[in-house]
Amino acid sequence: MTAKKGRVFSGARPTGKQHLGNYLGAIKNYVQLQDEYDCVYSIVDIHALTTLETTVNLKENTLEMALDWLAAGMDPQKSVIFIQSHVPEVTELHIYLSMVTPEGKLTDLPTFKDKVRENPNNINYGLVGYPVLMAADILLYKADTVPVGIDQAPHIEFARECVRSFNYRYNTKVLIEPQMKVTQYPKIIGIDGVNKMSKSLNNEIEISATPELTQKRVVSMVTDPNRQRRTDPGNPDVCNVYSLHKIFSTSDQVNMVNTECRRAGIGCVDCKKMLAENINQNLAGLREKRSQLAAHPNDVWDILHDGDKRARVIAEATMQEVRKAIGFAE
Ligand code: TRP
Repeated sequence: MTAKKGRVFSGARPTGKQHLGNYLGAIKNYVQLQDEYDCVYSIVDIHALTTLETTVNLKENTLEMALDWLAAGMDPQKSVIFIQSHVPEVTELHIYLSMVTPEGKLTDLPTFKDKVRENPNNINYGLVGYPVLMAADILLYKADTVPVGIDQAPHIEFARECVRSFNYRYNTKVLIEPQMKVTQYPKIIGIDGVNKMSKSLNNEIEISATPELTQKRVVSMVTDPNRQRRTDPGNPDVCNVYSLHKIFSTSDQVNMVNTECRRAGIGCVDCKKMLAENINQNLAGLREKRSQLAAHPNDVWDILHDGDKRARVIAEATMQEVRKAIGFAE
């Protein structure tokens, strides 16, 4: 542990079975960071309560996401993997941080405005405070490095401001300013060929899907809209099937698709079948491991509970310092 660069914290709301976008954008990165950093990864189920669609099926969605995480190589021997609500200290830190947060700063955030647009009928106090809870996550575990997508940049900046405000008000150094580590990965577009892959848009390909279902989803992908007939030449540059080939296929295959699509040498159906096969091959090991884990859900819960305990040790130590810094009577 001592040779590691620092502490990473990241979290994701329990959205159930993970898709290629989650896998390529976040999970693979979490796995890689484990050897370089002391990593703490959280299933942020309290954050899930801020929107109605993620409030339901919490337990099942937590298990499904944990299965994907573990099957992908997030390793409880290397990292702390735990459930946010099982370490309730985060809610305590959240309320202290809220007292050093000007309300307008939260309602001005672009991420808040997006949520208001998406869910105009459920603008709750907790949703406004979403970034405060996220800051509490990071600061509670004294993480210096937070791997997230670029969309989360305002939240990380907010967390840094929280640290400065808290430390200044209480004349302390207990909280640490985290740095964002942007996940460099092209946005993964869903099978509709237009929108970012997402469960709520029903355009996802789940990493745990069967090979048959994967093929079915890939075959239904929207391709270059100008290529109507098999004999029409296509433009791979505007085709999401090609984008995924670049991730999952060999460079020879990518070159072949690039050339042959442009001169109608390969049809979309064959091109898609090839892609589906490569995705299936790439995920075969993960899927095998996942079904072994899924056969023993109690072992998965045990892994998470062990993570809860390890997380709680860190959290409790921070909170003792925080309460002391605030000046609560002992
Ligand atoms: N807001 C993050 C997202 O939607 C999830 C999250 C919650 C998080 N707490 C965090 C990410 C702490 C990094 C660190 O993706």
